[in-house]
Amino acid sequence: MPKYSAITIVLAIIYMILLSCSKKQAAEIKPDVPAPENPGAVLTYSNFAQALFQNKCAGCHAPGRSAAAIFNFTGYASVVTNSERIKQAVLVNKTMPLGGSLSAAELQSLTNWFNQGMAQ
Ligand code: HEC
Repeated sequence: MPKYSAITIVLAIIYMILLSCSKKQAAEIKPDVPAPENPGAVLTYSNFAQALFQNKCAGCHAPGRSAAAIFNFTGYASVVTNSERIKQAVLVNKTMPLGGSLSAAELQSLTNWFNQGMAQ
């Protein structure tokens, strides 16, 4: 039996192990899902906040409604003007929406929308 064959086989095996390792690691580095810090879709008034205020607040805080004198929801400008009071009532004190609540996802999205500068 030739002497080199055993060495060749051992080297070949080592080479294959190294090759499969480096291939595996390279595949692991490749991101196949967006990084968590990538927020994906940008939240705006039109695609998110408007519906939330309309559905959860306007029942009491719209023209002609019971709490219109306190916060009168008439669109984007009325939210921006009252943003500090809204943040305090909804996100900090959690006293609004009165008699209801926002889901954890809604609270998170609303927080992000405010923090991102209330995009229209
Ligand atoms: C069922 C009726 C009702 C709903 C729904 C409701 N509110 Fe109110 N809201 C009130 C009443 C009544 C007051 C005044 C008494 C109080 O502060 O508890 C008030 C007070 C407020 C205030 C003033 C708080 C302060 O002291 O500065 C803000 C801001 C506000 N609401 C925002 C909202 C927002 C935003 C929503 C939706 C997420 C909402 N409210 C949903 C009835 C409601």
